[in-house]
Amino acid sequence: MRISFCCTDTASEPWLQGLRAALPTAKVLLWEPGAPLADYAVVWAPPQQFFDEQPQLKAVFNIGAGVDALLKLRLPPNALVVRLDDAGMSVQMAEYVCHAVIRHFRELDAYEADTRQGNWSFRKPRSRADFPVGIMGMGVLGERVARSLVGFEFPVMGWSRTPKSVDGVQCFAGEQGFADFLAASRVLVCLLPLTPETRDIMNHANLSRLQSGAYIINVARGAHLVDDDLLALLDSGHIAGAALDVFRTEPLSAGHPFWQHPKIVVTPHTSARTLRSESITQITSKITAIQRGEPVAGVVEPSRGY
Ligand code: NAP
Ligand code: GLV
Repeated sequence: MRISFCCTDTASEPWLQGLRAALPTAKVLLWEPGAPLADYAVVWAPPQQFFDEQPQLKAVFNIGAGVDALLKLRLPPNALVVRLDDAGMSVQMAEYVCHAVIRHFRELDAYEADTRQGNWSFRKPRSRADFPVGIMGMGVLGERVARSLVGFEFPVMGWSRTPKSVDGVQCFAGEQGFADFLAASRVLVCLLPLTPETRDIMNHANLSRLQSGAYIINVARGAHLVDDDLLALLDSGHIAGAALDVFRTEPLSAGHPFWQHPKIVVTPHTSARTLRSESITQITSKITAIQRGEPVAGVVEPSRGY
């Protein structure tokens, strides 16, 4: 069995070593143009040429959860496309989102500003009931985030394409549930995949439906958010602030207003990183399962975009 590794912006040697150690009978090769045909591919942002030269792939493993960039390429028609299914990401995402919600709710930025000035002063405690958190996308990551926020006793709402039932979470689904979901949310977390249906979903009309003093946390993809609409609603005061981890152009371009905006916290697409060891374990066990003819989790449906 041959496995071809083709990941841009990734140090390849530790991955190759890890894949070889986990599947000692496989030939694991770093792809280069003209490389021999492989059975499986491990990829991140590969060039189109990679797929054009690898028509026999049985499965393509993406070393990220989001497949929006991968699905823009012409893929071998018979290859399964498999994304990372948690692999250590959901706990990181829960840390990031809970931190952002709590930092905003407890006014920790304001406290830090005060204490840097030598001010020992208190703010009036706020009620969690006034900070209902709505999570768009209740998949592997969204559900874990929702459960974690329930643990901190925030009112939590989730919105997904198909109906869900999660203890302690008020679940909404589909277009018919969207307006009620937004109206019930003050903090909005985006954990949707980027698809034609979800692109630009955080636009002026939808963000305006959130409760006044809303807070936006985007940890999915930059193209979910219409940048100028967020800026306008921050100016009007309808939105109180935002924590943004993902951007339309990454790295965020120099001079973009988000960098210096006093109500926006920017992080460099780091809320849930791909963890090499967990990912190798997951991918190699799925290769073994596919070889045995067994089903695997995390298979993408290209027609729905995730
Ligand atoms: P997932 O398990 O596929 O979950 C996606 C969720 O979105 C599902 O609940 C799905 O609904 C829902 N959804 C999809 N289209 C929808 C629509 N049109 N309307 C309503 N709900 C819709 O994905 P995941 O593993 O949780 O990852 C989510 C996204 O996070 C990834 O696609 C990626 O873009 C992003 N991400 C970001 C980072 C980072 O570091 N910033 C790291 C990892 C992932 P159903 O359950 O009904 O199918
Ligand atoms: C990161 O953004 C991912 O999709 O895994």
